[in-house]
Amino acid sequence: MRIMITGGLGFIGSHLVRFLLREDPAMEIINVDVLSYAGNPANLADIETDPRYRWVRASIGDHDAVAAVLAAQSVDCIMNLAAESHVDRSILSGAPFVTTNVLGTQILLELARTYHVPRFVQVSTDEVYGSLGPEGWFAETSPLNPNSPYAATKAAADMLTLAAFRTYDQDVVITRCANNYGPYQFPEKLIPLFITNGLEGKPWPLYGDGLQVRDWLFVTDHVRGLWTVAQKGRPGQIYNIGGQNERSNRQVAEALCDRLGISRSVITRVADRLGHDRRYATDAQKITKELGWQPQVNWEAGLEQTVEWYREHEKWWRAIKSGEYRSYYARQYGTPGKDSPKR
Ligand code: NAD
Ligand code: DAU
Repeated sequence: MRIMITGGLGFIGSHLVRFLLREDPAMEIINVDVLSYAGNPANLADIETDPRYRWVRASIGDHDAVAAVLAAQSVDCIMNLAAESHVDRSILSGAPFVTTNVLGTQILLELARTYHVPRFVQVSTDEVYGSLGPEGWFAETSPLNPNSPYAATKAAADMLTLAAFRTYDQDVVITRCANNYGPYQFPEKLIPLFITNGLEGKPWPLYGDGLQVRDWLFVTDHVRGLWTVAQKGRPGQIYNIGGQNERSNRQVAEALCDRLGISRSVITRVADRLGHDRRYATDAQKITKELGWQPQVNWEAGLEQTVEWYREHEKWWRAIKSGEYRSYYARQYGTPGKDSPKR
């Protein structure tokens, strides 16, 4: 089986590539990744010489580059993870989010039809449902009500994916996952930012009152869910993936202080995120009942593994945080944004 994964040099994509290569000796992966600031070849350093793996540096928005890949080799499935993924960055400027998350997805859908790719998996997010009050959960039937520019672009991509199913009977499935955590997460997201700030002796910026709630899922459970949906999901369907593991940001911060053995006084309240969603909680009964998926890594074990990974991989995150990564990256691959391939 040959799978095209997009965004395979990012946090979740790199776990998915590694998982699939382990899962099936006959698996071949083509990873289409433009190498944005969030992509990092070091995330897949352990498998980069595996002959079953190939990285093509291209944007999903570059029609001709992706078409060339699909014309050269047949592909059994496209799993689209490539995205601008950080809410805070989307608040600063939404334009790159529209280009990659919306236009890029549409181009991929069209190419999947042109080249008769049998299945398309759109990796979406629970943020498309908006924000919950203290009660209830997001189900696949919940209305879309995205609040941040990031979430709005992901919702638009979901709509385009469903339009392809309804208009052309294209075989598509959509996943909407809760917040992921684990090794290789870029250290601007909550958990890796706080762990690495803790290891550097820096304060932890907790937005607003810190009582916003997220449902946290260990990244390997997410990629297993993605593969379950890719193999068994019904065409045109949406599957939530979640951990039933709700924590307020303050609870997350306190749990991390305890694991790291540092004083909770590092937690520093700062101005709130604009339009900050109050609560996400995902009802994942459909994927469990229909496809037999459920989470395997509990919060305590997942957090322990994550903290240990960042302790043991200081070189990885220090390079990114210090900017050394950016200068290495510029030497090796060109300046992101400037010398990157066409978007
Ligand atoms: P990430 O930011 O860590 O990685 C994104 C990857 O996409 C990077 O390797 C980057 O180089 C690549 N990329 C960006 N623009 C591209 C383009 N135009 N063409 C090709 N590659 C491009 O993201 P992540 O956290 O791993 O998220 C992966 C996917 O999962 C995203 O679609 C995101 O919306 C979704 N998701 C993430 C979470 C989460 O908690 N992180 C939860 C649910 C869903
Ligand atoms: O729910 C799924 C989404 O989870 C994914 O679609 C996104 O790609 C992913 O980035 C994540 O979005 P969040 O905005 O929830 O993640 P983030 O790590 O940025 O923030 C988590 C919570 O922590 C959120 O309530 C904001 C808060 N926060 C975040 C940072 C970076 C802080 O309080 N301080 C911080 O410094």
